Amino acid sequence: MTFEDLTHDARGVCKIDGYPVFVKHALKGETALIEITKKYKSYGLGRLIRITETSPFRKEPICEHFATCGGCNLMHMDYQTQLDFKTFKTQSTLQKLGQIDTDVKPTLGMQNPLYYRNKATFHFDEIDGVIFAGYYREGSHRVVDIHRCHTLPKIFSEILSELKDAAEENLFHVHSNAHPNGGLKRVIIRQSLSTKELLITMITHQDKPLKSHSLIERLTKKFPLIMGIILNVNPKSFGLGTKSSIIYGVDQIKETIGGLHYSINHQSFFQVNAIQAETMLEEIAKKASIQGDEVVIDAYAGVGHIGLSLAKNVKEVIAIETVKKAVSEGIKAARYNHIENIRFIEADAKEAMQDIPHADLLIVDPPRKGLHGEFINRVLEQSIPKMIYVSCNVATLARDLKRLKAGGYHVVETTPLDMFPQTSHIESITLLERPPVV
Ligand SMILES: C[S@@+](CC[C@H](N)C(=O)[O-])C[C@H]1O[C@@H](n2cnc3c(N)ncnc32)[C@H](O)[C@@H]1O
Repeated sequence: MTFEDLTHDARGVCKIDGYPVFVKHALKGETALIEITKKYKSYGLGRLIRITETSPFRKEPICEHFATCGGCNLMHMDYQTQLDFKTFKTQSTLQKLGQIDTDVKPTLGMQNPLYYRNKATFHFDEIDGVIFAGYYREGSHRVVDIHRCHTLPKIFSEILSELKDAAEENLFHVHSNAHPNGGLKRVIIRQSLSTKELLITMITHQDKPLKSHSLIERLTKKFPLIMGIILNVNPKSFGLGTKSSIIYGVDQIKETIGGLHYSINHQSFFQVNAIQAETMLEEIAKKASIQGDEVVIDAYAGVGHIGLSLAKNVKEVIAIETVKKAVSEGIKAARYNHIENIRFIEADAKEAMQDIPHADLLIVDPPRKGLHGEFINRVLEQSIPKMIYVSCNVATLARDLKRLKAGGYHVVETTPLDMFPQTSHIESITLLERPPVV
């Protein structure tokens, strides 16, 4: 079979008598023997058996876990091909779903597209006395034992390996069928890019102490940049529980992005790729072409990274965010950086917009589901001349741009940004302008 195209999640598309089959890790232009693994009415799924004609853009994945781990699905493409794939997918999705023919710029990539993440969650399990520590296998809750993840700095794997050794030596129990009422389930490791400080959160099933003293001593001796270890209790199989205690050091590491300083704790919202977060801020500033007297709305603000980065060069920033904790961290970050012309509103963006009489620039950075229809109505009622839309989902971006265009905005340009190299996630920044109504 010959692959004619790639799906949005980078599966090769081939056709058997017009019936499309999507195959993981196949590249456009390649020919291969495949096996159909699942048949649906309008498409099938398949797997590669043997590639008979290899694409010149194929690359040997650096990661030994590539075939089993659900994380990186583009590691078999050379990096320029990954960037071109994202540019093309942005352009074709905007066209197909939004009928938007805008100027899509080349995707902003990284100089080194590996070892870029500053946070990872590792799961633990024990089966027949053997400890597993790593990520979940794609589409399941089975833990793939990870020796080295190439999206993370090496120290993450070293800490994971130390924890695994400690579990094998019985320094603590792992939550599993053998220990159903307690034990370690997950570990979250964070590292600051600028200071290299580390913060470790150990999530247990129940509020029973890990035999922590010797574990703490062992970890902190080997990794002196560990600033704090937090114990969090959560009987659920995802996220953090409400009960936390500091079992070593402090619940804080320091980070600097775009010249601004942040204090990050184990619950903080923070960009996972700090290098590209800085590139994103630079691109937003470029598209905003600030004059100095603007009132800027930063809607869906999180801790207000975007608004804070612009504040020193504009008259005022109004940051809108629903999550209380993010708002309080944003206020803290403003104080920490002596920024006084930013105001946080803890509210739903569609409601808060009604109470802001005037703005010169609106920046939105919504979650994957995009903008709420009523929020778009509010935006169209106001005459904000410039808008910047930061998106992590090009399909909902296309839907929203279509409505904004119909309401009078001109979609000037879109720049995709590679926030998550080696994966098919696409982040993008779009500039819109609204000609004055005469
Ligand atoms: C993609 S994140 C944006 C992060 C932020 N711009 C930053 O750089 O850190 C989306 C944010 O929108 C917030 N959010 C979701 N729905 C919202 C709503 N209806 N109104 C206001 N904020 C909302 C989420 O809590 C989240 O912090």
